[in-house]
Amino acid sequence: MRPEPIYPKPAPYKKHFVWRLFKGLHSWFGLLSDVDFRIPIGSVQFKGLNLFLVNQPAAVKRLMVEEVEDFPKHPFTLWILEPLIGRAIFSVNGPEWARQRRLLDQAFQVAQLRKVLPQMAGAVDAMVERLDAAITQAQPTEPVTVEIDEAMTLVTADVIVRTILSRPLEGAEAAGIFEAFARYQRRAGQALMLRLLRLSERRLQAYLGRHAGTIRGWIRAAIEVRLSGPEAASAGSHNSEPAGISSPPQDLLQALIEAQDPETGSRFSEEELVDQVCFLFLAGHETSASALGMATYLVSCYPEVQQRLRAEVQQLLGSENSDRPLSFDDLRQLPYAAAVFNETLRLYPPVSFFIRESQRDSELVDRRCPMRSLVTISPWVIQRQEGQWPQPHGFQPERFLAETATPQDRQLAREAWLPFGLGPRKCPGAAFALQEAQLVLAELVRRYDLLPAEGPPPDLVGRLTLRSRNGIRVRLRRLSLNH
Ligand code: HEM
Repeated sequence: MRPEPIYPKPAPYKKHFVWRLFKGLHSWFGLLSDVDFRIPIGSVQFKGLNLFLVNQPAAVKRLMVEEVEDFPKHPFTLWILEPLIGRAIFSVNGPEWARQRRLLDQAFQVAQLRKVLPQMAGAVDAMVERLDAAITQAQPTEPVTVEIDEAMTLVTADVIVRTILSRPLEGAEAAGIFEAFARYQRRAGQALMLRLLRLSERRLQAYLGRHAGTIRGWIRAAIEVRLSGPEAASAGSHNSEPAGISSPPQDLLQALIEAQDPETGSRFSEEELVDQVCFLFLAGHETSASALGMATYLVSCYPEVQQRLRAEVQQLLGSENSDRPLSFDDLRQLPYAAAVFNETLRLYPPVSFFIRESQRDSELVDRRCPMRSLVTISPWVIQRQEGQWPQPHGFQPERFLAETATPQDRQLAREAWLPFGLGPRKCPGAAFALQEAQLVLAELVRRYDLLPAEGPPPDLVGRLTLRSRNGIRVRLRRLSLNH
């Protein structure tokens, strides 16, 4: 059996919720105790607010699929993200959400996986160039320690910027954006805890707004250029000029501009476009970067997993064409790479908790859940439930592989694996994220030997997404492509 990979062990149960809130200021995981990983439901009352943690799969299905309208996104979701993403799809409810989802689904037709592969491949090539340069600068034959978390953040942001705006994201521009978002992440986690302590909502939001400005300003500028550019074309109501000579790029931004709601005939306004693009930029890279940072870390720690992954890629490419780029069809034939990614998402779900608000009095598992309760569903807790998952903290991609998965594994994958959420609010970017992850992992293992780095392991913290406070390092040694 493989040794367990790292994770922040939950503290022994403490009755006083204030003590847990205090720990939660640093990381959302501080709110949890060891008991939470063994029970179907937990609840606490604090300052007049009823808080629930729901782990039982049947109850989770009720909340997220069957009775989704009775458990919409909690107002805290909007409040914590509004300075950054305004009223974008992720945090709104009801008809406002339904209209946005119709428009977004239409726009996503453009970002079909086959069509976005060249953008993904361009960004991954740029990543390989950067890694190669880092290796060449040091000793080309010796393993070189790289900050793989940073590399994954840059490549995934580059992928999504190329997909949305048809241009790369590089250098100082990227560094400024990441720094602003890292600051927002830190403050947002703290703001949520301080909000539970009843600190002024408006003042906390204004504090967050300062950090969001850099990102919104950068995205607004890109949208203004498109809307006022000579090729703004017949982009709906945004520009009354006649169509220019050149046609606009067929990217996700253009698809969002042109999307028209079949029910109301409306399109996204300019302000709504800024909100949606801000959200898609964040959703499209922050989550994938978190998952890929941990996936590469795991691959560096488990040599037999890495060998199997490399063998899968090499077998697919064959020895004669071992340096050819991976095609769309190739990426559909990497089941082990998909299993590694899925198991990483089980152990380290980038969105570690979802919060909902009950709209009426109801029963949850064995307790009364009053109207306006804050109901938490945590993939982090559910995907590590003891007594449900065999070796809940172990790294076993085989659970997600058709040839080795047991009937119990299959059932758990259906009912207790929810890194992309469930039901109508489920992530529409899941297939995009999988294709990107398979491409990145395949390109890494075919070119480099990934070795564990010396020094401290990742210090995982739960904020808006799951990230490591001290970065993630691996050592890379270049391989010959024809071996
Ligand atoms: C590993 C990568 C990703 C993970 C783990 C992830 C996870 C999630 C989760 C958990 C939700 C729903 C949360 C809830 O129910 O409260 C969500 C929503 C969403 N995600 Fe992702 N996501 C990923 C990548 C992406 C990508 C690449 C895109 C777009 C290109 C994207 C676009 C969205 C959108 C638009 C929503 C809102 C859906 C709605 O509210 O109707 N995500 N994501």
